[in-house]
Amino acid sequence: MRILQVSAEIFPLLKTGGLADIAGALPAALLAQGCDARVLLPGFPAILAGLTDPVRVGSFGTPWGESVEVLFGALPACSKGDLIVYAYVLVAPGLYDRPGNPYEDANKHPYSDNHRRFATLGWGAAHLAHGLDTHWSAELVHCHDWHAALAPACLAVWNAGQGPRVPSIYTIHNLAYQGVFWPQNFGDLGLPGYVFSMQGMEYHGQISFMKAGLSYASHITTVSPTYAREIQTSEQGCGLDGLLRVRASQLSGILNAVDDSVWNPATDSHLAHRYDVRNLTGKVRNKTDMQATMGLTVDADAPLFTVVSRLTEQKGLPLVLSGLDEIISHGGQLLVLGNGDTQLEQAFTLQAKMHPLQVAFRKGYDEDFAHRVFAASDVTLVPSRFEPCGLTQMYGLKYGSLPLVRRVGGLADTVTDTDLETLDDHSATGFVFDDFEVGDYRRAIRRAFALYRRRSDWNRVRQCGMRIAFDWASAAQHYTNLYKSLI
Ligand code: ADP
Ligand code: GLC
Repeated sequence: MRILQVSAEIFPLLKTGGLADIAGALPAALLAQGCDARVLLPGFPAILAGLTDPVRVGSFGTPWGESVEVLFGALPACSKGDLIVYAYVLVAPGLYDRPGNPYEDANKHPYSDNHRRFATLGWGAAHLAHGLDTHWSAELVHCHDWHAALAPACLAVWNAGQGPRVPSIYTIHNLAYQGVFWPQNFGDLGLPGYVFSMQGMEYHGQISFMKAGLSYASHITTVSPTYAREIQTSEQGCGLDGLLRVRASQLSGILNAVDDSVWNPATDSHLAHRYDVRNLTGKVRNKTDMQATMGLTVDADAPLFTVVSRLTEQKGLPLVLSGLDEIISHGGQLLVLGNGDTQLEQAFTLQAKMHPLQVAFRKGYDEDFAHRVFAASDVTLVPSRFEPCGLTQMYGLKYGSLPLVRRVGGLADTVTDTDLETLDDHSATGFVFDDFEVGDYRRAIRRAFALYRRRSDWNRVRQCGMRIAFDWASAAQHYTNLYKSLI
């Protein structure tokens, strides 16, 4: 099967969040299943720098008169052994030759021409399903998040004419980011007028890339089974639950996986001390090194709670701030790595100043440091308000850090709360609380301390978590089954 994966970011070349981790791991996992998977990416500087031996396969024009060159080459950074990932990259310097964050400028303002930048990505995908490369054309286009969501609309328009009908899958990584633009931009999208309608991509008088994906994709997936159900409710549907209910029979959840070649404490090159489930001595060393680096009290027995996160409303960080005294008063420590919301950055900076021996905050985005935080951590906090899948709780599990999460989205699907029954049957892996309120969160923190005092139980739960595979082979198998059913 010839599958084109379309996304705006890809690990390790360009990453703002979990989307990149998934876009970076899925292609090689599909190749391993015997799928002829290729990727399509915008030509951001970091992407072009990672493309080797590029050849020009063709070009196409945009409605506003720009010419887009399509290059084809290999992405060694995303390849695994002899599973070479090949990519098409759109070269349009006017749109993509901007370093740094792919969506916003240095002042954190979204680029005003984002509708053009990502409409071009959608059209690029449709062209690659309809002969732009004379040697290879996609039999199915698999798009990720709103940046790629115009592709199903472009294909639907193309499918209505002559030529092969090419199915599409649209994967929602986060329904909260929708790509909504003013209606006067519709002309730039190159789509016929009927697409700007209730049945198409019109959303309260505006144009919505998310809605285009949801309306026109042959099938919709999201990144966990629970989130697939939640987004069909008015509480979590972000205004699109009605449409998602209409499409319920073509909507499913496929749980994300963990790339073992990147996230594995036994082989992780970011770590000074590697370890595995049979020998955790290295983990203790990573922890005390980290405490020293961050100016925390160096004490292997003090439980270290950590957060590695974008600092946004979604991630429930106000709970971490309100419940901080629960950690401090029980002799624990908190380490936060994150950037984003200025108020949250200031709040964590202040707490670190007030409690320098027990609270540390590293502002910024730092891949290397993130690995070292998971290796040092005893408890990974992910108390999200909503969470499509969440990867950090899975990284926590792999690195022997028990996740403490809210029972929502993919967090509910990946962490099993510790109680007498789950301790007994060896299914316990962490701590799960229900209500998005500080009382429930605090109770979960207290349960973490209670288990920490019972070391043999703690070690047993930790081992259960470290043994969970979250392997890409089974996630990729779910995707290939879906591809087969649609082609
Ligand atoms: P989301 O995609 O909503 O941000 P996920 O849990 O799916 O949440 O993925 C987050 C990814 O981004 C993980 O790989 C995590 O390690 C990484 N990450 C988040 N914040 C930072 C940071 N400040 N520095 C380094 N990596 C980060
Ligand atoms: C989004 C979601 C996150 C998910 C990630 C990868 O960023 O917020 O929950 O894990 O995409 O699918």
